[in-house]
Amino acid sequence: MPDRFDLPAGFRWGAATAAYQIEGAVDEDGRGPSVWDTFAARPGAVRGGHTGAVACDHYHRYPEDIALMKGLGLDGYRFSVSWPRVLPTGAGAVNPAGLAFYDRLVDALLEAGITPLPTLFHWDLPQGLEDRGGWLNRDTAYRFADYATVVADRLGDRVPAWITLNEPFVHTVYGYALGTHAPGRTLMFEALPAAHHQLLGHGLAASLLHDRGLEAMLSNNLTPVEPASSDPADLAAAAAYDALHNRLFTDPVLLGRYPDLSALGVPDDIFGAVRPGDLDLIHTPGLDGLGLNFYNPTRVAAPTEPGLPFDLVDIPDVPHTAFGWPVVPEALTQLLINLRELYGKALPPVTITENGCSVAEETVPDQPRIDFMAAHLDALARAAAEGIDIRGYYTWSLLDNFEWAEGLFSQRFGLVHVDFATQVRTPKASYAWYRDLIAAHRKRFAGQGVG
Ligand code: FCB
Repeated sequence: MPDRFDLPAGFRWGAATAAYQIEGAVDEDGRGPSVWDTFAARPGAVRGGHTGAVACDHYHRYPEDIALMKGLGLDGYRFSVSWPRVLPTGAGAVNPAGLAFYDRLVDALLEAGITPLPTLFHWDLPQGLEDRGGWLNRDTAYRFADYATVVADRLGDRVPAWITLNEPFVHTVYGYALGTHAPGRTLMFEALPAAHHQLLGHGLAASLLHDRGLEAMLSNNLTPVEPASSDPADLAAAAAYDALHNRLFTDPVLLGRYPDLSALGVPDDIFGAVRPGDLDLIHTPGLDGLGLNFYNPTRVAAPTEPGLPFDLVDIPDVPHTAFGWPVVPEALTQLLINLRELYGKALPPVTITENGCSVAEETVPDQPRIDFMAAHLDALARAAAEGIDIRGYYTWSLLDNFEWAEGLFSQRFGLVHVDFATQVRTPKASYAWYRDLIAAHRKRFAGQGVG
């Protein structure tokens, strides 16, 4: 059994955020509207009627936030670039003021000794593209590549590694299938062309990043799927869910093919979206790193009613976060082992690009978050001891922020508390804990030239 935090030398410690969740300033300096501005304005769409209009006001307060990151001793900071800030209608003319914000952010991070890790798409599609079908329109993949070109050409001299997409599963299923996230479409499985077009956009962007000597990663929300029993009907339901949640977003990128989606009633060409050559475009560029966002495993049973080919059921007898998500850290070790078994040599190095938890009604003492992170880092160290190449851990999140459909106050994920009325930032107990952990890890490898 390895030591609690027996992670390798050179392991990178980070924190993650996303543009719409923290920036605010939605009408400033020429930013165009995104699907999240439109969705949040719909009555009843977001808890409390909250929006990201101000959020953490990071657009203005980024120097203070970078000082907080520096205080943690972070190696890296994962943030997302807001597409409608750079290209207000999604295509066409570049907004120089929008691009200049990320230029300043990158310079300030580098000055603080922190490596920027930008995500190009974390769900805030320009409304102008949504008006033309959003990710259901194949053209959006090509507009994404154009946008990626603009941003990489501006920042690529200082930013070595990039994440193309954040969690295409969650964006497709919540945004296009169930309608609980922007853009609020309720297409059920007919949403899946939106997944294919995002993956196509990923492939096009990965290839243009490589042309510029830059690394490309994809951040997937993956979950180990546990069948509720060994009954064949539960096993079949679990396999169907695994194909939808995990394999649909990883097989094409790592193996160049889609999993069998027939149990979902989805044809091989995903309702005509997959054209000849697409899988090559998705697969051939390769992935320099798999970004893994891990929150919880999922238990699946055979459906009790007609409709979906699976039922998601609770995992009893384990703690649950304020969000109601089961806390099962060993599932992270299992997930990494499963990935290696499934993909073998095709599995690139893994970076945890999100992991963390919301804690109810917290301010500063947030012991449950410390316990959550410690247990997951333990689980990660176990996977590393099994020989899995894990390069870093970016906790979600630096700041309490706009938690999508849950709004501003109910699900706080930050190491730093944000008072949304005053914008006062207060580091929580987990902030000091993470800072000390990073310092101890670095100290252990001091003198070896890494760590
Ligand atoms: C992930 C999202 C991230 C945040 C966390 C809690 O699915 O990528 O933006 O909302 O969940």
